[in-house]
Amino acid sequence: MNKVLSPQETMLQEVLHGLSLPQKSLPSKYFYDQRGSELFDEITELEEYYPTRTEWKILTENLDKMSSYFGEQILLIEPGSGSSEKTRILLSGLDSICCYIPIDISGAYLEKVAEGLRIEYPKIDIQPLEADYTRPFVLPDIYSSSRRIVFFPGSTIGNFKRETVNRFFEVISEIIGKEGGILIGVDLKKDVLILEAAYNDSKGVTAEFNKNMLVHLNRKIGSDFNPELYEHKSVWVDNPGKIEMRLISKEDHQVKVMDEVFDIKKGEYIHTENSHKYSLDEFEDIASPWFNVVKVWTDEKEYFSVQYLEPR
Ligand code: TRP
Repeated sequence: MNKVLSPQETMLQEVLHGLSLPQKSLPSKYFYDQRGSELFDEITELEEYYPTRTEWKILTENLDKMSSYFGEQILLIEPGSGSSEKTRILLSGLDSICCYIPIDISGAYLEKVAEGLRIEYPKIDIQPLEADYTRPFVLPDIYSSSRRIVFFPGSTIGNFKRETVNRFFEVISEIIGKEGGILIGVDLKKDVLILEAAYNDSKGVTAEFNKNMLVHLNRKIGSDFNPELYEHKSVWVDNPGKIEMRLISKEDHQVKVMDEVFDIKKGEYIHTENSHKYSLDEFEDIASPWFNVVKVWTDEKEYFSVQYLEPR
């Protein structure tokens, strides 16, 4: 039988694995310690980082039209809800929501956010669920007559590789059933200069965010990464069409993780994040085994999209 690993043991295994690959890489979920979450919030407010404010605008300006697709009584489900910041637009603006189920892996934080939401929205039943939404999970058996609408903003779908996108769609289509729907934020392809600027901001917040992963790993698994030996860089990779975040080594050096030592050459990089950008047609194609794109809303520059999908 497989031993169940603690979060720390999993982290260690994943880091050892990532550093032994020909192209070194580290899992992006390890960006998020306390400091990482703060830096991420700062990123979303940067001048160059257009996605958050553009999605916010699309949601606010089209909420009435969106609601006409949802129906009269809905159960709103949000995988990876975090602070539920954007969801407040829906919770405040839609009378049709009878229950909101935020889903996150951090149970303690989830409970704290839920308590705030219960005070703000006394008419909505707030039912947090601690789960890893990339694996199959079960919803509480409530409001069976309400339509299930999944809200997945932030173009988080863009951070998934293709297999994970497929697995996500599979899990979600199980959850919402034949009658449900998804409201999803999808960042779009655009001028490379705009894309690269969004992930290489002039204040260096994204750089600090990227390097903070090394600090986080050092603290948790006792690795000895020196963040100062790395330069942050985000680059556009044309095929398949994604921003890659990298930590480029400034000198030849070694990193010790447990009792393993890794040689890192000057100019070599560690890959830390993918942010895929799609054209509307590409995204429709990817969703098509599970979902039809029923309606797309964008901003005037067509930088970002919010899309409503229904099961096929
Ligand atoms: N999904 C958003 C994006 O890709 C937010 C995000 C996830 C992000 N990981 C990131 C933003 C790393 C900056 C850096 O843009």
